[in-house]
Amino acid sequence: MEKKKLVFSGVQPTGNLHLGNYLGALKNFASLQKEMKCIYCVVDLHAITVFQKPEELRKNVFETVASFLATGLDSDKSIIFNQSSVSGHAELAWILNCVSRVGWLNRMTQFKDKAGSDKEKASVGLYIYPNLMAADILLYKATHVPVGADQKQHLELSRDIAQKFNNDFDCKDFFPIPEPLIPKNVSRVMSLRDGLKKMSKSEDSDYSRINLKDSADEINKKIKKAKTDSEQIPDNMQTLQKKPEALNLINIYSEISKTNIESVLREMSGKEYSFLKTKLTEIIISEITPVGKEIQKLLKDKAHLEKILKKGKEKANIIAEENLKNVREKVGLI
Ligand code: TRP
Repeated sequence: MEKKKLVFSGVQPTGNLHLGNYLGALKNFASLQKEMKCIYCVVDLHAITVFQKPEELRKNVFETVASFLATGLDSDKSIIFNQSSVSGHAELAWILNCVSRVGWLNRMTQFKDKAGSDKEKASVGLYIYPNLMAADILLYKATHVPVGADQKQHLELSRDIAQKFNNDFDCKDFFPIPEPLIPKNVSRVMSLRDGLKKMSKSEDSDYSRINLKDSADEINKKIKKAKTDSEQIPDNMQTLQKKPEALNLINIYSEISKTNIESVLREMSGKEYSFLKTKLTEIIISEITPVGKEIQKLLKDKAHLEKILKKGKEKANIIAEENLKNVREKVGLI
């Protein structure tokens, strides 16, 4: 029997989404919405695993919703809401905390990276964060999860948890085993200052990233300053691969212009990087500035964003409660 497909993904309300978030996630969300039922969640409960100033958290949730809408998500087609507004996430997370194993969490590389050298001081929430992520997905019995490559390990954990729950409670096929949807050609969007680091909101220099709200002028300046290479643009992948900053710019150009890297190299080999930079600036400006303007416009109408969240919460809650009812029964909770 063909199972109904359902997409779930979550984005942390970090504020200031950038080109990496756009090419790696948001753009893909909008196109998936054309093919399948989709649930997109602003994961505020994940965000508080590291301290957030309450005012900023609230602001960032609205900003993330505005970015969802500005990049083409449609609140009539897809369910758009914030995680904490559906209490089932926290409830299922607790139950899954009791299914998931300490040994499994100890293997999570993101915890090791985020907790840094003093793990004793990390919040317990940060440690069990992957169990909450599994709860997000399984609460809706989602079958497909678009995520960046950095979330692959967490998704594998969600699969293990689903499997163990189905085994422990003798209910084969109760939770579908979720499939990752990892965008193939967007090998990650990297920092404009260091081609080996992911583009990130936490890098100090704003010159390392293109924010969705950047003006044309800012984009122009940032691309001009972006690190490249003293030689000319090469004609083959092998050489390009050894030059991470140049590869990153060509990658971004290839992705936005929907031209494969080989064709870009054919067009540009032997030219100076300034040639690429001019074209790249143009194409980023035409793709990103309308999104930025739309975000700004949406942010002025809080009441509208609140309405969108409320509508999403109501729709999400119906599915969540129905599934949770069955989970409680399987586990033996009265
Ligand atoms: N952990 C994800 C990230 O940091 C966000 C996330 C939370 C998520 N819950 C999810 C992604 C469920 C996919 C499905 O990017």
